[in-house]
Amino acid sequence: MKPVDLLLENDENPDWDSGTAELGHMLKPGELDLSHKVILYLEDITVSFDGFRALNKLSLTIDAGELRCIIGPNGAGKTTMMDVITGKTRPDEGTVFFGQTLDLTRLTEPEIAHAGIGRKFQKPTIFENHTVFENLELAMKTDKRVWRSLMAMLDSAAGDRIAETLQLIRLGAQADRLAGLLSHGQKQWLEIGMLLMQEPKLLLLDEPVAGMTDEETERTGELFISLAGKHSLVVVEHDMAFVKQLGGRVTVLHEGSVLAEGALEEVQGDARVIEVYLGR
Ligand SMILES: Nc1ncnc2c1ncn2[C@@H]1O[C@H](COP(=O)(O)OP(=O)(O)O)[C@@H](O)[C@H]1O
Ligand SMILES: [Mg+2]
Repeated sequence: MKPVDLLLENDENPDWDSGTAELGHMLKPGELDLSHKVILYLEDITVSFDGFRALNKLSLTIDAGELRCIIGPNGAGKTTMMDVITGKTRPDEGTVFFGQTLDLTRLTEPEIAHAGIGRKFQKPTIFENHTVFENLELAMKTDKRVWRSLMAMLDSAAGDRIAETLQLIRLGAQADRLAGLLSHGQKQWLEIGMLLMQEPKLLLLDEPVAGMTDEETERTGELFISLAGKHSLVVVEHDMAFVKQLGGRVTVLHEGSVLAEGALEEVQGDARVIEVYLGR
């Protein structure tokens, strides 16, 4: 591949809505097949720890571009579900497909990340002794050989992407500050920005607003809403005001399976959900 082709390809943003019916014919090797407008399928996933079923025949699908919230009591299996999607935990049974054709249970953790799944953990893993700008730069997905041969050209393209991401995560004014000096909320946004630099198609966010102020939480909600469409997001969260702000479909997990799914008002009115989760 010529370096210029690679640049163009890197600059291309996938458009979930255009020509998906044709995609099946035009797929390049390794490209995500979204021809059924579904980005993630979990089917009958079971994970046991010493005989205890953390996930019990869990089935779930996420649409391309969707913003999905996952709620449920502690121990319901929410984090384990993310571990299965990212390859950290292998299911005992069941299948996980990314798009129509990519079987994630056959891939390693790095391969899954490379395929376009980014995960944010509760504790931010930023480089505290580097500036905000450098953190984003370090997070960028680049082929090291191409990087060296194309330094000058890539520099401007990369600079644009970093500037764009700084705007998105509202850290434009903090670009030259050491990441270690940011507030808790700003550190969380920086880590989200670092994930975005890798251009993930699917983002997994486990309790992203834990410990944030109300204002930071609301800004995070605005950010996620703006990312949906171009990205698919799966957000595990306990903060119901935040889940309401996000406004997408909500899946309630309980004892390793889906207990209910629908709009927030629907699941909030579900007697079983009230009993195991909301009513406590
Ligand atoms: N590595 C592990 N070893 C043993 N038990 C585990 C492990 N990871 C999770 N569990 C158990 O699986 C259940 C689901 O945990 P988890 O997925 O963390 O729930 P949630 O994120 O919904 O609170 C819990 O009972 C937890 O104790
Ligand atoms: Mg958890």
